[in-house]
Amino acid sequence: MEYKTIDYPRSVGVAPEGKEAVLSVRDLAISFKTDEGYVHAVRGVAFDLYKEETLCIVGESGSGKSVTNKAIMGILARTAHIDSGSILYEGEDLTKVSEEEFHRIRGTKIGMIFQDPLSSLNPIMKIGKQMTEVMIINGNHLKRYYNDLINAEFIAYKNDLRLLSLEKEERKILKSRIKDEQKKAKKEKRPVDEAKLSSYAEKIQTSLAHTADLQIQLKADKAALMEAKKGAKAKVKEKKQGIDAVHKANLKPILSSLFKNPKQAYGDFLQEHRRYLSDLRVTHKEAKERALKIMAEVGIPEPERRFKQYPFEFSGGMRQRIVIAIALTAEPDVLICDEPTTALDVTIQAQILELINRLKADHHMSVIFITHDLGVVANMADRVAVMYAGKIVEYGTAQDIFYRPVHPYTWALLSSIPDVDSKESLDAIPGTPPNMLFPPEGDAFAERSKYALAVDFKAEPPMYCLSDTHYASTWLLDPRAPKAEMPQIVKTRIENSLKKGGKAQ
Ligand SMILES: Nc1ncnc2c1ncn2[C@@H]1O[C@H](COP(=O)(O)OP(=O)(O)O)[C@@H](O)[C@H]1O
Ligand SMILES: [Mg+2]
Repeated sequence: MEYKTIDYPRSVGVAPEGKEAVLSVRDLAISFKTDEGYVHAVRGVAFDLYKEETLCIVGESGSGKSVTNKAIMGILARTAHIDSGSILYEGEDLTKVSEEEFHRIRGTKIGMIFQDPLSSLNPIMKIGKQMTEVMIINGNHLKRYYNDLINAEFIAYKNDLRLLSLEKEERKILKSRIKDEQKKAKKEKRPVDEAKLSSYAEKIQTSLAHTADLQIQLKADKAALMEAKKGAKAKVKEKKQGIDAVHKANLKPILSSLFKNPKQAYGDFLQEHRRYLSDLRVTHKEAKERALKIMAEVGIPEPERRFKQYPFEFSGGMRQRIVIAIALTAEPDVLICDEPTTALDVTIQAQILELINRLKADHHMSVIFITHDLGVVANMADRVAVMYAGKIVEYGTAQDIFYRPVHPYTWALLSSIPDVDSKESLDAIPGTPPNMLFPPEGDAFAERSKYALAVDFKAEPPMYCLSDTHYASTWLLDPRAPKAEMPQIVKTRIENSLKKGGKAQ
């Protein structure tokens, strides 16, 4: 059988019918600068997250799952560098938006929960305050209105500043290269490499020309931002006047009844005052009411009492529920769960997974669920991306991955899931993942795979399409490859599971 290949990771092929992508990652590559050199953590990742679906990203520790998702959240370490790629969300490339703008997307549109809930909670602040604080900050209606109005101009201006500093940085590097060459020539007692130097000098000139253009652009964009701010201030003022006018109109009958029925008038006044404040911002009382409701929704008993407690007074599972509750307060479209149950014991783990599934459906969220354990995936995933050494090696629907896996690494992961029924001992994957300072050429899994072909050590396999929903990057799918059978243990499991007619497990 000859399979088509796709231009992965620049494209992921056609979207299945009726599926709308909420988040599109293309050609994403990220490295970290370390003392030993560059760690190539993510090396060309692409995927689409579809509306109201769960995409599970599975792979051993160190395969680049967290780094990929931290890039989406904009919380990469300072030493990280995005070498290439884009992350499209609502028409915007998240790799290019300013830090301020990212603040707004992170936590409001895209929420994230981590393996260790303690790391995302403040140990010395009561749970209730941690929940309401976010709502109160996000709930300043007039401020949000203002930020929305100046958003486009603000991003353009910040982008100019960023580009200017990149140009400056580049010239600095070029100048130091010129100096290096001059020093080296002197030391080696040879004439300087004129061609090299003039190429550097030329690049410096180009950068200076870019900088001049950018400065003109910056001036224009700054003026536009000032103009937008002026306009926005006027609009905010207008909006505030509107709110005040309604308030005044509502107060009028209350005040006129003051002498007839003072008690009633006082009650009405308080009520109107509260309503007025809620037009301006989310009040503490409203935030608390909402927090208690969400706490109940995520299954925290006695929310009133729990509201006043500190994180240390909660068990691991309850803490994870609180973190989920905090993420929910912002009504995110996308929820990223990075190994949220790894630190929990098995029964609690199952409860949290069930909770995430329920919340996903109730809140119409799309979920990215990260785990090293393919066993956890079966009841969660609509789609699965199998990651190894910074790349996605197989991608498909849960059925594709559990019933029709084709990549030797997916086979290895499937073999290592302990069987619930037979208690069959698991086959640990031999060897260790590669050192990402020096990623191997070709198929990175080859050195640990008994299915490896000679070509695996030389060339990277293309991405083959097995169907519209299922693709994999392994030379075993090349028509010239010898026929390879999946391990018996995986075969048996698939057969058993099909016999039981159960879900993909
Ligand atoms: N801040 C960092 N500095 C250097 N290397 C890092 C950093 N963060 C992650 N890495 C490296 O990037 C690779 C991928 O890490 P990660 O995405 O955390 O893996 P996982 O799949 O377990 O979530 C690993 O080799 C890891 O050591
Ligand atoms: Mg991780």
